[in-house]
Amino acid sequence: MRVLSLIRSRFAPVLATWIDDQELLNASLERIVSSRDATLADYQANLAMPLQKKLGKPPLTIAEDIMAGLDLGDICSSVTIAGQGYINLRLSPEWLAKSLSEAHADHERLAVTKVDNPKTYVIDFSSPNVAKPMHVGHIRSTVIGDSLSKILRFLGHKVITDNHLGDWGTQFGMIIYGYKHFRDEDAFARAPVAELSRLYREVQRIISYQDAERKLPTLELAIPKAEQKLADAKSKVAASPKDKKLAKESSSAENQLKELHEELNKAKETIDQAKSDTEFVARAQSHADLSQRVLRETSKLHQGDAENLKLWNDFLPNCKEEIHTVYQRLHVEFDYEYGESYYHDMLPMVVEDLLGRSMAVNSDGAICVFLDGYDAPMIVQKQDGAYLYATTDIATAMFREREFAPDACLYVVDHRQSEHFQKLFDVLRKIGITQTELNHVQFGTVLGKDGKPFKTRSGTVVGLESLLDESVERAWQVVCDPDRLKSAGSELTDAEKRHIAEVVGLGAIKYADLCHNRTSNYVFDMEKMVQLVGNTSAYIQYSYARTRSILRNGDTEGYNAARISNAEMVLATGPEMTLALQLLRFEDMLAQSMVDYLPNLLTEYLYETARLFSSFFEQCPVLKADNPETVLSRLKLTDLTGATLRKGLELLGIGVVERM
Ligand code: ARG
Repeated sequence: MRVLSLIRSRFAPVLATWIDDQELLNASLERIVSSRDATLADYQANLAMPLQKKLGKPPLTIAEDIMAGLDLGDICSSVTIAGQGYINLRLSPEWLAKSLSEAHADHERLAVTKVDNPKTYVIDFSSPNVAKPMHVGHIRSTVIGDSLSKILRFLGHKVITDNHLGDWGTQFGMIIYGYKHFRDEDAFARAPVAELSRLYREVQRIISYQDAERKLPTLELAIPKAEQKLADAKSKVAASPKDKKLAKESSSAENQLKELHEELNKAKETIDQAKSDTEFVARAQSHADLSQRVLRETSKLHQGDAENLKLWNDFLPNCKEEIHTVYQRLHVEFDYEYGESYYHDMLPMVVEDLLGRSMAVNSDGAICVFLDGYDAPMIVQKQDGAYLYATTDIATAMFREREFAPDACLYVVDHRQSEHFQKLFDVLRKIGITQTELNHVQFGTVLGKDGKPFKTRSGTVVGLESLLDESVERAWQVVCDPDRLKSAGSELTDAEKRHIAEVVGLGAIKYADLCHNRTSNYVFDMEKMVQLVGNTSAYIQYSYARTRSILRNGDTEGYNAARISNAEMVLATGPEMTLALQLLRFEDMLAQSMVDYLPNLLTEYLYETARLFSSFFEQCPVLKADNPETVLSRLKLTDLTGATLRKGLELLGIGVVERM
């Protein structure tokens, strides 16, 4: 039920008698909102004041005039004017009950309507670079993208999901090089994916070591200079302590020095670690300048070298299989998985096209697009002929335009790529993609408790699968704790317990990610996210299971599903009204969450719904109510609450269990 649009549609004709400017009319209607203070109103129209100038009347008179023409009798039990002309609306319990009964009867959609003007969305999400193990950072894009697609689809839009795999980049040069020089034949035959990961890490380790060796002397020289610079800056500050510019210079010199020290320590650490492994150092020495060698393997692959192409073709299915096990576990699916390699043959044309439009120019042998407002141009082809990430993204966007004619293209990608996307969108608009909403739906970093990007103690980024296992294990501890089950009187088989732990454990990881505003960083805290209390998926799943248990108990007392469906809903008390009003807002909240693509509005809604259900249940006896009519009405409200929680979780990609 779209309550807001319904109420607005009643105000619109009244306002239209005085306002002919459509924009002003819409802006006024936007000022009709859900009330933030439930003691005052359910909905509030705050539109009289801003109209004062235009209509040349005091706000109070405007509000009175609107009231006189307004027909809300069927929806509202009271419409009153407060303060300087606010119009306060209370929904009538009868209308609310009738609307919720309609939602209850519609098991599939809970009376959520489909949008009048469906759009076509292409959602580019997850998109990991394969051949590298997937880590916790990938979970954000996967989980956010999956939930956006589910919500948009549910609202009636056409959604095309595309996992833009990094299946063509330098990481393949790394494993090709590793395979040619370091492979363990037996290990590869036994477990190819594990061996490829090992090769990737080995090559990566040598490159980091060589990098550190190369940088060390430069860093050692740079530090005394930076110290001198800081000392100079400090003495200038001492001479004129009020000069803000000097203070700023001094603090930036301090930061520079700090960063240099950090870099130096890191380089020393890498070198020290390597030195204890003499075989490793020998290997590193006999593969000098490994990053250059890797680039050569990558460019041979791109130029169609038969041996490298064959290796790539051999490796790719293995790499994909690995990430697909993660997607299966997370229940995430994609319509397409073209990947970067798909666009390779289109890249020369992209560059030709940009040159033809005089958008790209040759600058020292590299082909660049210069854009206003940026220091560095977007490079689309390097001196050595290689194409870049940006070139592929231009080709991808052009392909999607031709293939899908989308209204919007959402890129669910880490915030660190924001400059890339700004430049990309500038270029795309210049080549004529002006009608498509191009949106970098960015997200922040997953942090450890130390405030740094999330890592395990050994310092490697945590693999995704081990993380899922850990969460499931914790969910088992929390939910299947024998004392807890005993006191709840639940008897569960081992298979049931395993299923519950899996659903709760995976839900915890997804929910913890989705419940933060996606643009902020968040601290990954496994202990907190698998709790049964607080803003967690387990709490909401538990509330759902509770609604199911109440309904099962009702059923044994003869209050079966058919009777509940036919029963009339009567909202007689405060807690019932409050819960009912919350349930009625489901559709408006979903629509609102898609204005800026924020799934956390849905998590907040579900948390609030679960809490309101709990306080309803504490204050209003259900099965012990005074008469069968009230029992049935409250069971209906309980059932609809459960269905709303389940649907909401489903739209976040999270499952439920019938008992917990
Ligand atoms: N593979 C990239 C990475 O891991 C993300 C790709 C995002 N999508 C895109 N069309 N650029 O950083």
